[in-house]
Amino acid sequence: MKTHVIAVANQKGGVGKTTTTVNLSACLAERGRRVLLIDMDAQANATSGLGIDKQEGRSLYPVLLGEADPREFVLSTAHKRLDLIPAEVNLAGAEIEVARLDRYLHRLSEALQPLLAEAGYDYILIDCPPSLGILTMNALTAADALLMPIQCEYYALEGLSVMSKLIQQLRDSGANPGLGIEGIVMTMYDMRTNLSQQVVQQVLQHFGESVYETLIPRGVRISEAPSHGQPIITYDPHCTGATAYRELAREFLARRNGGKQEQPPDTAES
Ligand SMILES: Nc1ncnc2c1ncn2[C@@H]1O[C@H](COP(=O)(O)OP(=O)(O)OP(=O)(O)O)[C@@H](O)[C@H]1O
Ligand SMILES: [Mg+2]
Repeated sequence: MKTHVIAVANQKGGVGKTTTTVNLSACLAERGRRVLLIDMDAQANATSGLGIDKQEGRSLYPVLLGEADPREFVLSTAHKRLDLIPAEVNLAGAEIEVARLDRYLHRLSEALQPLLAEAGYDYILIDCPPSLGILTMNALTAADALLMPIQCEYYALEGLSVMSKLIQQLRDSGANPGLGIEGIVMTMYDMRTNLSQQVVQQVLQHFGESVYETLIPRGVRISEAPSHGQPIITYDPHCTGATAYRELAREFLARRNGGKQEQPPDTAES
């Protein structure tokens, strides 16, 4: 079984990267997949969003420097089948330290090998920081595909050409020739506004089938959940946000399955 590695990235800040990584991970785990979430952002929002306390020294930093084994940093969470490699503020230092090393783009990709080989994860989702620095570049080099959240607001398309160019560069340079686009997810959709609908139309024109049909609505429950250290499906299992992220997980899996009916997971009973 191959582990599929997905970088959740967009250099724009506050577009819903972390919210999507946490909630999609939790929904995939709920559907019986084994998921590892890697928090690659020194803000550590995914870590606290899963109710895990930030702890100095507990991040991928030493792993990226080649000084530790990633398996030592894996924590289990309150959710069955969902594990986490946490972050903490010192991870920011890796931007500088890693840049000085040989093969600096491949640090994460090489560090993940033991996790890919034995750990039995179906998916590894990497929550990236809002920049195109060394950490995001490492995530994109390690990933099979990019999942990009785009916020339904006026400047949504700003910077997307930078992202597209970067992907092309990573492919052409040989850093990650196989890097694909997993999908684009429209976040903070407000059906009462024309603007949201216009932005979705625009993004569809640019990216066509890469865009998930599932739209993530703007909702106060989604924004409250992280302060309770919970994904939306446990914080408020029946709200529209929980339904949307469950639907996104279903669509994600259906696409990965080539649009065919989802196979029952072999891990559902575990
Ligand atoms: N669908 C939504 N409805 C309401 N609020 C949302 C929604 N999605 C995200 N938010 C809120 O918007 C803010 C930004 O979301 P999030 O942290 O997921 O973005 P991000 O892209 O990870 O940000 P950063 O670039 O800082 O890492 C957070 O306060 C989050 O709770
Ligand atoms: Mg974030």
